Amino acid sequence: MNKSHRGSVKLEDCEIIAHKKYEADQFVLTLASDYISNNTKPGQFVHATVSEKLLMRRPISIMSVNSKENTFDLLYKVVGDGTRELSKRKVGEQISVMGPIGNGFNFDSVKRPIMIGGGVGIPPMVALAQQLNLKTQKPLAIFGSEVEFPFEMEITDKSYPFIENPATMSLLHEWGIDCLLTSNSDFQGVYKGYVTDLARDFFNTLSAEELKEVKIFACGPDMMLKAVKTLASQLNVECELSLEEFMACAIGGCAGCVVEVETETGKSMKRVCVDGPIFDANSIFQ
Ligand SMILES: Cc1cc2nc3c(=O)[nH]c(=O)nc-3n(C[C@H](O)[C@H](O)[C@H](O)COP(=O)(O)OP(=O)(O)OC[C@H]3O[C@@H](n4cnc5c(N)ncnc54)[C@H](O)[C@@H]3O)c2cc1C
Ligand code: FES
Repeated sequence: MNKSHRGSVKLEDCEIIAHKKYEADQFVLTLASDYISNNTKPGQFVHATVSEKLLMRRPISIMSVNSKENTFDLLYKVVGDGTRELSKRKVGEQISVMGPIGNGFNFDSVKRPIMIGGGVGIPPMVALAQQLNLKTQKPLAIFGSEVEFPFEMEITDKSYPFIENPATMSLLHEWGIDCLLTSNSDFQGVYKGYVTDLARDFFNTLSAEELKEVKIFACGPDMMLKAVKTLASQLNVECELSLEEFMACAIGGCAGCVVEVETETGKSMKRVCVDGPIFDANSIFQ
């Protein structure tokens, strides 16, 4: 564990408060934790035990917190044994959770945060959206999925030059945050294409002065992150990316999650779990 994490990561048993299944084996898990619901920075994750059968924990991003109810939500997709075991867990059972882990996004002073999430990269973007200050920040979320979106959606009456009456994520709508959805599949109100296609169309509507206020935050598959990095560099806007790597300890001890990062003193190996998972786009995928 590095210095900044010492004393901030807790290990606790959290009760399952709700466990909701969506299309395409996607689940939203609500867990009880006074500590995590009150001490999480957007972009942080938990390392959770999925069942008694599998000892290895699995890393999952914290999607949202409810500090009144002392709960937090995770959104995950079944991709293998661990997430399949997790999907069988029932309301009332306890899960061992270590967290919150990671560095989190730098977003406080950003006037126009643009949050781009792909698939199970959407959760940290929702976490970021939840903590924005709408008096000083003018955000837009762009979420992409090739399967049904794992949340309630609604059609809005807002229109953009590139899409009329777009569908949006109801939760972000409730929070007053504009959110556009993209997919290469045909869904009502959903832009057809990749997240970067929609983002490019949106950036074309901004003036040069407005573009200077933009910072992009993104999480999703590596292919998507590389495309977002290219877009940010073409537009000359700041960009932070959240990486996913296989993790064993998730507290900095095993070096199982290292990636090559460009630093002021040259190339260096950094641990995604405690030095990340958020990195400046210019420092990765060299
Ligand atoms: C910081 C972080 C945050 C994450 N947040 C989420 C989240 O919010 N929701 C979510 O659904 N998933 C998230 N993941 C990915 C999740 O941890 C993996 O999907 C999970 O560990 C797979 O475990 P499994 O036993 O089901 O599958 P495995 O049998 O281990 O693997 C199944 C498939 O998933 C791929 N895979 C496994 N682990 C990873 C990984 N860490 N990164 C990329 N691909 C992987 C493998 O290549 C394989 O194709 C996150 C990962 C990290 C590192
Ligand atoms: S998973 Fe052990 S150092 Fe990151």
